[in-house]
Amino acid sequence: MDIVELRSDTFTRPTPEMRKAMADAELGDDVWGEDPTAISLQEHCAGLFGMEAGLFVPSGTMGNEAALKALTNPGDDVIAESRSHVVLYEHGAPAVISGVVLRLIDGPNGRLSVDAVAEMIASANEHTSRPTLVWQENTHNMSGGRVIPLEHLAAVARVAHEGGARAFLDGARIFNASVASGVPVRAYGAEVDALSFCFSKGLGAPVGSMLLGSSEFIDRARIVRQMLGGGMRQVGLLCAAARVAVDTMVERLAEDHENAQVLAHGIADALPGSVDPAEVETNMVFVDLPGLDVEEIVRSMWDEGVRMAALGPTRIRAVTSKEVDRAGIDRAIAAFGQAVRGSNAVRDAAVAV
Ligand SMILES: Cc1ncc(COP(=O)(O)O)c(C=O)c1O
Repeated sequence: MDIVELRSDTFTRPTPEMRKAMADAELGDDVWGEDPTAISLQEHCAGLFGMEAGLFVPSGTMGNEAALKALTNPGDDVIAESRSHVVLYEHGAPAVISGVVLRLIDGPNGRLSVDAVAEMIASANEHTSRPTLVWQENTHNMSGGRVIPLEHLAAVARVAHEGGARAFLDGARIFNASVASGVPVRAYGAEVDALSFCFSKGLGAPVGSMLLGSSEFIDRARIVRQMLGGGMRQVGLLCAAARVAVDTMVERLAEDHENAQVLAHGIADALPGSVDPAEVETNMVFVDLPGLDVEEIVRSMWDEGVRMAALGPTRIRAVTSKEVDRAGIDRAIAAFGQAVRGSNAVRDAAVAV
């Protein structure tokens, strides 16, 4: 049975063109700064985002953590939205590696409130710790892949700068934000001091993320990368695939966004109120199932070859990517409808769906 993989866009596998580029890549020792394919990718990406320099890192998590350490001192405060990846999914690394305190703000749709950030910075004094970095995430994963509009991102960065703090963007899926909003990635880059983005999610490369910022920042991040064991030797092998990803896989993200819309509408038809398609802006569909047995529904879809992820006791996440075409989406909608109709909770309540 063909699998419809909707758990994450990290399941994307490299294209034949990526595999060929890997086989043909010119290589050197990147820890010595001599891998031509890595150098060329870093320069190319810096150019795309209007930044001075770039650094290839093995993962988005390492990019975030290297950035944090390069941009802060132990004891500093970092302001972040409370459901950001750096807060929830990096195993406390900001505290362990950088010794920083995360100051959290709940942001609807992943957006930090400009006033709340300004107030947090303004309330620091000689008796308190001091926010030196403001962290944004775009698209914002845990709010359902929502796009942070450029004006909002810029307004938050502005209050950070006015308060003497720096602005960082975790742009793991910044190309999804760009394709959905029509805002060039360069415009996002212009608002922040540094950012990271991933090659290994919707863009389909097997491994890697890019850190971008000033040359001084990248020099510091390179040292941290080495400290974390992320300096890799003939890394051009991976950078070659990443280059194909940025060159050829960006525009097609629109197809993933369309598929997410179709999926959201199909799920909303099967179980009204479980998802609002208007809130699906990119490639993620969050489905709320209060009162239903989420594990049972996920298992039932799994038996039909459709994989979605349980996100806690009442929610399922489906992420579209190049691995799933429209026929796969149709199968996912059918499997969801069947799973819900067959669910014990629905049967017990004799709810017609
Ligand atoms: C917003 C965000 N940042 C960072 C990461 C970390 O990327 P990686 O899995 O490559 O460490 C992810 C992964 O899903 C993410 O969604």
